Amino acid sequence: MPMSLPRHVLLCCALLLAGCASTARPAPTLYEELGGQAGLEALVETLLSHVADDPRINQMFARVNIVMLNQHLNEKLCQVSDGPCDYQGKAMGPAHAHLPIGQGEFNALVEDLMWAMDQQKIPRTTQNRLIKRLAPMQGEIVNQ
Ligand code: HEM
Repeated sequence: MPMSLPRHVLLCCALLLAGCASTARPAPTLYEELGGQAGLEALVETLLSHVADDPRINQMFARVNIVMLNQHLNEKLCQVSDGPCDYQGKAMGPAHAHLPIGQGEFNALVEDLMWAMDQQKIPRTTQNRLIKRLAPMQGEIVNQ
């Protein structure tokens, strides 16, 4: 004979399930946490103008097509943060092979990125999520 549950227990379960269904949302992607396309555009603008003022690395950017770099950086950051983008630039190794990048220069760029994220009021937890995804690229980019 099937066991029947008291009505108040059933009602309670139904309410709990309904509550779950209405509040359960997928966790935001890193791309969303960074403010989506508009957030990334503002971040890359802030980063590139800060890099231009950073004597540790700005010579490397002096003769670069900044419009193209801006676009490719946006696509790259969108891609690594699970955004809906198709990165059209070179792979990280070939893109940096002609530049004298040591650990110091890599760290300088990461510091400039963190400064730019602070300026854009991106929370530290989100900043750390992005840095964690960029860190493995170090092996391809650092070449000295
Ligand atoms: C995780 C860190 C980095 C990421 C994600 C990154 C990403 C990129 C991307 C997407 C491009 C465009 C490639 C293309 O247009 O095909 C690029 C180019 C460039 N990157 Fe990086 N980069 C990083 C680190 C660095 C560092 C540490 C430096 C120097 C301090 C640097 C300097 C440059 C320069 C100067 C260019 C332009 C090269 C050219 O057009 O001749 N990058 N980077």
